[in-house]
Order: sequence, then structure tokens, then C-alpha cells
Amino acid sequence: MLDQKPILVTGDRPTGRLHIGHLVGSLNNRIKFQDNYQCFFLIADLHMLTTHYDKVEEVEQNTIQLVIDWLSVGMDPSRSTFYIQSQVPHITELHTILSMLCSVPRSRRIPTLKEKVQDMGLGENYSVGLLGYPILMAADILMFKATKVPVGDDQLSHLELTRELARRFNHLYGDFFKEPEPVVSETPRLVGTDGNRKMSKSLDNCIYLSDDAETVESRVRGMYTDPKRIRADIPGTVEGNPVFIYHDAFNTNIEELEDLKSRYRNGKVGDVEVKKKLSIAINSIIEPIREKRSCYEKRIGEVRDILHEGSIRANRIAKENMDEILDHIGLFQP
Ligand code: TRP
Repeated sequence: MLDQKPILVTGDRPTGRLHIGHLVGSLNNRIKFQDNYQCFFLIADLHMLTTHYDKVEEVEQNTIQLVIDWLSVGMDPSRSTFYIQSQVPHITELHTILSMLCSVPRSRRIPTLKEKVQDMGLGENYSVGLLGYPILMAADILMFKATKVPVGDDQLSHLELTRELARRFNHLYGDFFKEPEPVVSETPRLVGTDGNRKMSKSLDNCIYLSDDAETVESRVRGMYTDPKRIRADIPGTVEGNPVFIYHDAFNTNIEELEDLKSRYRNGKVGDVEVKKKLSIAINSIIEPIREKRSCYEKRIGEVRDILHEGSIRANRIAKENMDEILDHIGLFQP
């Protein structure tokens, strides 16, 4: 009998390696979701093209490294489907259909579009493809009739549009899609090592899952912390302090952590000790991931096979769903 668990779709653009912010923000949840959902994990290479259409030479390596990150944290291709968006052309087909149901002003109101256009200094000269980014995402989701979609909070406006498009489709052509629900991680977004609002490659403030132990130590040593504490005997602030935000996220030794916090507040501990303990905590979490990563790095052929087979499987399901969709709309299929 077919897997009756509810369907979940989520994924990443292949723009680079994943960092410890992804681990607490999305990867840990994905691993758990695998127990209760039929998970479709996509590599959103077409979404990457909306902004990086001139960086195609990076796609292959980025994809392989991304999938190695997925595998190393415990996302499991024997239970979940890993696939490449551009290998499933029905997604693009559904994108075309859904784009008929979305007005241009509606898609221009999406806040992430405004941000991207601003960041990239595009003015009025953004592409039709970038404008359609959230519609393509709606196609990713509805293609597999997903009901759960784990996303970062920055993606919620895309989910709102997805739900609207599902409603509009149902209204026009009769009930078909369930409105997918977003799930946002309960762990707040991890700040960058420099205290910046988020980790980002361009700010060079990340700790990657693929960093070796020494790199983690040196990253942590250079972390932004309470700037008022120019000496160890000055009382420090724990709340909102990046070093303690990380301790809260990664240090599983609660007693040690409480002791550090109270000594920090009272000016009784040096930054060196606090940071040393933090790198130990982070390294002990990353170490098993690193070990798995080094195994997969020697088995790239297997990584390719996983993507190949996953894409075939995704394609088969997408084809079945597409036939139903065309039939439901009432397009002529002689
Ligand atoms: N846009 C998402 C991001 O940048 C990635 C993505 C593409 C996605 N298609 C999706 C996430 C479908 C969830 C469901 O993070």
C-alpha cells in the first residue's frame, strides 16, 4: 500500500554550504519530520537562477555539497525523496498555469521581491523570472499536493501566496488543492558571529557544518560579544549576547552554562573561557556530522545516484499529479 503519511515539501537553493544556523533553524526539524511525513526535499536550482543566472558553473558543486550536508545531518534518502527542481519539468508547467492566476501587482507586493531588487540595485529592471519566484515556489509545493511546508520566517509571504493560488484554482476549476500550512522553526534565527541579524556568506559571519575544529575555534574566538567588557572583571550582559545565544543553542551542559552565565554577569569569568567552552560545545555537535561528511566526500557517485533516483521518483509522482491537474482544469487531452 502507498505511504499514507501527509506530504511535506521543502528545500534549499544550491547557493553554498549550510551553516550551524541552518542546523538549528531547519535541518534538525527536517530530520524529525521524516518520521511523520512523506518528505520531498528539493534542490531549488531554478530559484537559484532567478538571481544567479550567470553563475551556472557553480550549480553542480553547490548541489553536491548541499546534499552531502543533508546526508551528514541525517536527512535520509531511503525515507525521503531528494530531487532537483529542474529535473522535474512538470513543476515549470504548473508554474505557468499558476502564473495565470496571479496578477502582476499581487506578485510585486511580495516583500522579498522588494528586498532582493533593493539589495541587487535592480531598480525597475528585474526579470519576469524573479517576479515569478513565489509562484514557482507555489508550484513546487502544489505539484506534490503538500500540506506542510517548513520554511524560514522570511518565506511566509510566499506561503500566503501559495494558499491564495490554491484557493483561486479551487474556486475556478473546482476543489482540488488543500491549502498548505507553513511551519516556522521554534528556534529563533541564529545571529551571525559578528552579531549581525543573520548568518550570510557575503558577510563572512558563518560557522559552516563543513568547517574543521580549528576553524570553529578561531571563528568563536573572534565572535562579537558584550563590547562594554574590556576586562574580565567587568559585569557583562548575557541577554542578546551572541556568544550566549550560541551557548543556549549548542551547549547541552546546562549546569556549566548556568555557572558561566552567573559568573559573566558578576564579572567573574574571562571571555576566553566562555568562548573556549562554546567551541567545545559546537565542535561536539558538528564532529559526528563532519565524520559522515568525510565518508560521503569519498562517495560522490552515491550522492549523484541519490539525486538521480530521487528525481526519477519525483518525476513519476509529478506526472501523475499533472495528468490529474490538466484533467481537472478541463484542458483538451485528445
Ligand atoms: N525559497 C526557499 C528559500 O529560499 C527555497 C524553496 C524553493 C522552497 N522552493 C520551495 C522552500 C518550496 C519550501 C518549499 O529558502
